[in-house]
Amino acid sequence: MTHQGFTLWFTGLSGAGKSTISAIIEKRLREAGAKVEVLDGDVVRANLSKGLGFSKEDRDTNIRRIGFVCEVLSRNGVIAIAAAISPYRAVREEIRSRIHNFVEVYVEVPLEVVAERDVKGLYKKAMAGEIPQFTGVSDPYEPPLHPEVMVNSAKETPEASAGKVWAKLKELGLISL
Ligand code: ADX
Repeated sequence: MTHQGFTLWFTGLSGAGKSTISAIIEKRLREAGAKVEVLDGDVVRANLSKGLGFSKEDRDTNIRRIGFVCEVLSRNGVIAIAAAISPYRAVREEIRSRIHNFVEVYVEVPLEVVAERDVKGLYKKAMAGEIPQFTGVSDPYEPPLHPEVMVNSAKETPEASAGKVWAKLKELGLISL
């Protein structure tokens, strides 16, 4: 396959399926011979953003760091995939304005559904007041107004969502087989 450098930016609540869907896309791209790198919020916070918390300021710093890495990768022909909550619209738009090929994917899911899934057990704690500033519970999440792709992880399988993303990348001419 041939591809351009671009940034595929997943945003959505914790547990929405950003990492799962991005891993499917990553695998598919790699198998097709593409150069691809994933920047996952949990992984970035364990190294590049170690020490940052969840205040608006720290989240914006985390997102700007991820955005910077995506920018340098994608301007060198690599596909950069970001999977972080990135709850604030303004900083997402800031990154969009800096990156030539920026594709935003909103992983939509009702709070009730992620709270029910509670893969990491964090929603239970957040709802009991044990985690301050938890996105969707006691901290804001600002959904994108015009994302390139919208998927709904309560209504679709991760494979179906990945298929939608893939189709959009082809439509935009960013990948071609
Ligand atoms: S972001 O807001 O800066 O984009 P990021 O995606 O890196 O967040 O990290 C989110 C992950 O951190 C969640 O999936 C969850 O595991 C953990 N986490 C811990 N505390 C919080 C919190 N207060 N709000 C959201 N996620 C939290």
